[in-house]
Amino acid sequence: MTYPTLFDGLRLGDLDLPNRVVMAPLTRNRALPVGDVPHVPNAEYYAQRASAGLIITEASQISPEGKGYAWTPGIYSDAQVAGWKQVTDAVHAKQGRIFVQLWHVGRISHTSLQPNEQAPVAPSELAAEAHTFDGQALVPTSTPRALDLFEMARIVDDYRKAAINAKNAGFDGIELHAANGYLLDQFLRDGSNKRTDAYGGSVENRSRILVEVLEALTEIWPAGRIGIRLSPFSSAGGISDSDPMATFSHVIKSVDKFGLAYLHLVEGETGGTRELPKGADIATLRALFKGTYMANNGYNRGLAAKAVGSGEVDLVAFGRPFIANPDLVERLAQNANLNEVDPATLYGGGATGYTDYPVQNASVLA
Ligand SMILES: Cc1cc2nc3c(=O)[nH]c(=O)nc-3n(C[C@H](O)[C@H](O)[C@H](O)COP(=O)(O)O)c2cc1C
Repeated sequence: MTYPTLFDGLRLGDLDLPNRVVMAPLTRNRALPVGDVPHVPNAEYYAQRASAGLIITEASQISPEGKGYAWTPGIYSDAQVAGWKQVTDAVHAKQGRIFVQLWHVGRISHTSLQPNEQAPVAPSELAAEAHTFDGQALVPTSTPRALDLFEMARIVDDYRKAAINAKNAGFDGIELHAANGYLLDQFLRDGSNKRTDAYGGSVENRSRILVEVLEALTEIWPAGRIGIRLSPFSSAGGISDSDPMATFSHVIKSVDKFGLAYLHLVEGETGGTRELPKGADIATLRALFKGTYMANNGYNRGLAAKAVGSGEVDLVAFGRPFIANPDLVERLAQNANLNEVDPATLYGGGATGYTDYPVQNASVLA
């Protein structure tokens, strides 16, 4: 049996991806500060990266309450939809494909970022051991309040509205952000979910909100235009679980029933080690999902070629390499050197470290 290379196309749902190099979701804190609206520089940034097989946008809050950092874009207001339309138009003009990542941060927020300076919401009243950026400094995340049972339907509805907005903004699909210690991940894990109602306790209960959100999203989009991101072995956002293999085996089996476009796993610590805790195993989890598998975390050219070439992985999402290399696909194809990321310009600011990373061959961006 012969397997494809990174540069072979892949049919994802009813979309044809020209290659298997995906741009991972990357928060850059460069939306317009008033109203958290995407604008022209964001369109330019994504259009520069349109040769990716698929772009997944930075996480975008589904409601004002879903916000956890300064200057991240939303996808709940008309102005935000119009801003995103500029982005999708620019990417489509370059023959690219782009999904928006839908985000609710849960407890990874600060009162100063919340409507009326209220406490952020979470499954339980447990502060994360984490920090966020409030526009001036890194600050400890605030102690959240536990969501009331009657509020769950509203949260699901916020996801539904965001999915409708994503259609109106011209996206090709959506990725549900259930990774990295944010709201949905907080529900999944027993370290942050101490509820005693239908949304806590057993892994089935802890997965309930995720399943309800997927039911809502699949009413709006065909399943083949929806992906999901999980990070089973990451402690991002101070998240923990007493038995991640058991939790995520159940979660992935539940997700599989929806026939989604892809399962996207962060393999290991997000942005950190690819080594897994004792007893953890990605292949076992991957096997529980029948569809396309997108892998992420610390991939370089060799690792990605091997993973796709062995048939273990269908798509590889690159994060930091895509920040610094708008023409990453071409560079990987030519085995060219890569630009290094400048850590100082990751979050917030203007064009520097955003739209000014050089390409090898200027015609790529023309
Ligand atoms: C600047 C930055 C912003 C990120 N923002 C997001 C995000 O919005 N959503 C998400 O799921 N992951 C986010 N991540 C994690 C990346 O998608 C990815 O998992 C991580 O960088 C590891 O992949 P890499 O080794 O290819 O960079 C971010 C990472 C970085 C470095």
